[in-house]
Amino acid sequence: MEYRSWSSIRNLKGKDLLWLVDYKPEELWSILDTARIFKERFYAGERVIPVLQGKVLAMIFQKPSTRTRISFEVAMLQLGGHALYLGWRDLQLGRGETIADTARVLSRYVDGIMARVFAQETIVELAKYADVPVINGLSDLVHPVQAISDMFTIWEKKGKLQGLKLVFVGDGSDNVLHSLLLASAKLGVNIAVASPKELRPNKEILRAAEEAAEFSGATIEFYEDPYEAVRGADIVYTDVWVSMGQEEEREKKVKMLEPYRVTVDLMKHAARDAIFMHCLPAHRGEEVVNEVIDGPWSVVWDQAENRLHVQKAILALLLA
Ligand code: CP
Ligand code: NVA
Repeated sequence: MEYRSWSSIRNLKGKDLLWLVDYKPEELWSILDTARIFKERFYAGERVIPVLQGKVLAMIFQKPSTRTRISFEVAMLQLGGHALYLGWRDLQLGRGETIADTARVLSRYVDGIMARVFAQETIVELAKYADVPVINGLSDLVHPVQAISDMFTIWEKKGKLQGLKLVFVGDGSDNVLHSLLLASAKLGVNIAVASPKELRPNKEILRAAEEAAEFSGATIEFYEDPYEAVRGADIVYTDVWVSMGQEEEREKKVKMLEPYRVTVDLMKHAARDAIFMHCLPAHRGEEVVNEVIDGPWSVVWDQAENRLHVQKAILALLLA
């Protein structure tokens, strides 16, 4: 019963999760704290905590997914609710029904919408016309649930967030990086980006991250040399060089990013107890070598698991 009061205590009920820009550090901490409780209870054998009994989450996918789809679906089941997988082309959306009309209709049936879309504008439009919370499950611009979950993994592995150094190596315009910039800046994690200077973050996202960093005291730095960037790194993070929807740029990006592969040698230049993170799916041999992703630094499987616990917290706080 105590769970029923979470949302009112933490005041997230009904809120969308589209960018992270509008989330205060204490709201992010309430998600992390709640996720910790869910994870502890899960390992104590309490798999089902029915705070969302009878509630339904619509999950719209314009692009493929393994982790996001499965972790949200299992999360709803373990919260006593139900999730509907809706492929973009199986909906009338695929035949031209507007996003606004789809949002209005879905709001009459379900208690929340999670969507993975190509353009960020699509999710903003969905949220504008939906009467239920809308959660971004990745767009071309951001991947907020991934970044919140990654903060949880870092907190779990390092026992703190404030003052740590996270170094993202690779595509400096990556959607996951954009969300890591925002989440790190809000929670006091120092972030450094090692990328070619042609691939730097979206200016609006960077400005929002810099504003948040002023409050938390976090630093945001850019490097072209990955070895210089990873000096003293507590976390080395990478993502694919070619994101979904960018297939035409493959040749150009691979050529540009070749010096940014995370290798054993690069990891040896980070802090002695550095961890390696990747949102997955990985293109082994491209952005990271097998010896790192399968090596002693890697926490990628725990990182993937934590999507489940953190998204249960997000769903419970927004939808309960
Ligand atoms: N990391 C992540 O969102 O993975 P999927 O594309 O498999 O959902
Ligand atoms: N940057 C990647 C992340 C996948 C989870 C993509 O958008 O394809």
